[in-house]
Amino acid sequence: AGGDAGSSNTDDFGSHMCNIMGQLEKIFTKAVLSAYPEAVSPMIQIQLSKHADYQCNAAMSLAKSLKKNPREVGQQVLKNVAPNPLISNLELSGPGFINIVLSKDFIRQQVTNLILTGVTPPPATPVQVVVDFSSPNIAKEMHVGHLRSTIIGDSIARLLEFLGHKVLRLNHLGDWGTQFGMLIAHLQDTFPNFATEPPPIADLQKFYKESKKRFDEDEEFKKRAYEAVVKLQAYEPLHKKGWEEICEISRKEFMKVYERLQIRIIDRGESFYQERMVKLVKELNDAGLLEEDDGRKVMFGEGTDVPLTVVKSDGGFTYDTSDMACLKHRIDEEKADWIVYVTDAGQSQHFKSFLACAKKAGFYNDVKTRVDHVTFGVVLGEDKKKFKTRSGDTVRLIDLLNEGLQRSEEKLKEKDRHTVLSPEEFEKARDAVAYGCIKYADLCHDRSRDYIFSFDRMLDFRGNTAAYLLYALTRIRSIIRTAGVKPEEIEAEAKKGAIALEHEKEWKLARTILKLPDVLVQITQDLYLHPLCEFLYEVSTVFTEFYDNCYCVEKDQSGNIVKINMNRILLCEATAQIMEKCFSILGITTVGKM
Ligand code: ARG
Repeated sequence: AGGDAGSSNTDDFGSHMCNIMGQLEKIFTKAVLSAYPEAVSPMIQIQLSKHADYQCNAAMSLAKSLKKNPREVGQQVLKNVAPNPLISNLELSGPGFINIVLSKDFIRQQVTNLILTGVTPPPATPVQVVVDFSSPNIAKEMHVGHLRSTIIGDSIARLLEFLGHKVLRLNHLGDWGTQFGMLIAHLQDTFPNFATEPPPIADLQKFYKESKKRFDEDEEFKKRAYEAVVKLQAYEPLHKKGWEEICEISRKEFMKVYERLQIRIIDRGESFYQERMVKLVKELNDAGLLEEDDGRKVMFGEGTDVPLTVVKSDGGFTYDTSDMACLKHRIDEEKADWIVYVTDAGQSQHFKSFLACAKKAGFYNDVKTRVDHVTFGVVLGEDKKKFKTRSGDTVRLIDLLNEGLQRSEEKLKEKDRHTVLSPEEFEKARDAVAYGCIKYADLCHDRSRDYIFSFDRMLDFRGNTAAYLLYALTRIRSIIRTAGVKPEEIEAEAKKGAIALEHEKEWKLARTILKLPDVLVQITQDLYLHPLCEFLYEVSTVFTEFYDNCYCVEKDQSGNIVKINMNRILLCEATAQIMEKCFSILGITTVGKM
């Protein structure tokens, strides 16, 4: 990954929420440079601290490289910190740590702004991003690996959109390639009228298996299948029509999953690049970059010993060829500053190879374009083996989602929610919990690891699950509702001036929720989403601590409200907004009641 795409860049917040840690880093970098102009690009790291709000440890490494006493360096840096609204106090401690105490006024104002303007992104320079995710293969089953790619990719896209980037969400469908030869040949035999009457194929999987069987067993059929590929790639109308029909059936199936999970994505499969592949292959060939290998044409990139197969011995193109042409298109024509690919970790070599070849071919420069290959581990069943149905087949995603709905319904009924909620409210809660849990269970784990898919675990109402967190949010909302405070009143109260944060737990909650911008900036660096889930969970825990210690609404013995603490209601509102934003970035629908 190169370039500085997505980095936060400005000192002027305007209507932006402040990424406090990031801004402290800037303040201290400036302080170091003004104290020691000779220090070249100093590495400043700000950490959370037990003794203060944050701590800066720059003096240690700096003293080493400057051959000075660390305490003295710490003192100098401290003296050079320019006046700023964030910090109320600095103190040198131990061998040269600088303890940072945040300004209470600043925090009060930030929380108040949050209530008045909603959760706004930390400052960032907008760039053009392509997120390539989901990307199942036509006529084959969309499996749990694609589900992971869909969930992770969608969340990354949502985050980048929130930060103000221009995001192109692309579905790099596997819709081109030799499998279409046999599919079309089989189509011609089974539904000869396919050109005029859309073929009633109910089960494309079965259709795929049938044609594969014929392909493997019948030489004459195999020959026809090969001819069909050649004709398709030459855009012969009838073959193209057959291909379109098959793609259409697949796409309808995929759409069902996307609609359920509320995924926005634009289809742009491998076929889109056919003419560009022809052109690119010619260019690579003319530049002398292709080598003959047993009838194939291959290309080696710098530093990889696994070559790309650019042209197969039958003259056809491959997954490698399409990714080369696709990358070139995204850089040259889509003008992407940043490209994010989300696939299973098993494809790492493919990505290394084609990126190295693209560099060698001269159309990709990692300083100008940032490319991230976001990988993830495999989905395992509760038996820790590859996720399969009892009979050993791949699990159909739509069946999985249906099971989620059913389990969610059972769970909510167990908790008697059907007696409290209206039928519509119940249905909304059921859907939100089912799909929310499936997404959250995936996103809350370190994505690079394998993960165990367990409905029991993800639907647990205790612990770090969407079920628990969605419920926690409805409880906060109900505090405000019970208090009978209307949105206008909250706004009016916030406009009176910065919120008071007197109780220690109020202060703690305020500082916790204001960490969101730093969490988001961190994610733009490594594209690991689980810290956002950890943050969301932390917010709900710290909120509980606050709520257990601070009355928001005081009632008398007969349950009548005697006093409403408006500041605390405001803090409830701010917390709810922060949680809503996290859910929205995670692609999880929230509900008012559950
Ligand atoms: N269709 C591929 C698969 O199912 C994923 C494509 C990912 N995107 C890409 N540009 N290679 O594994």
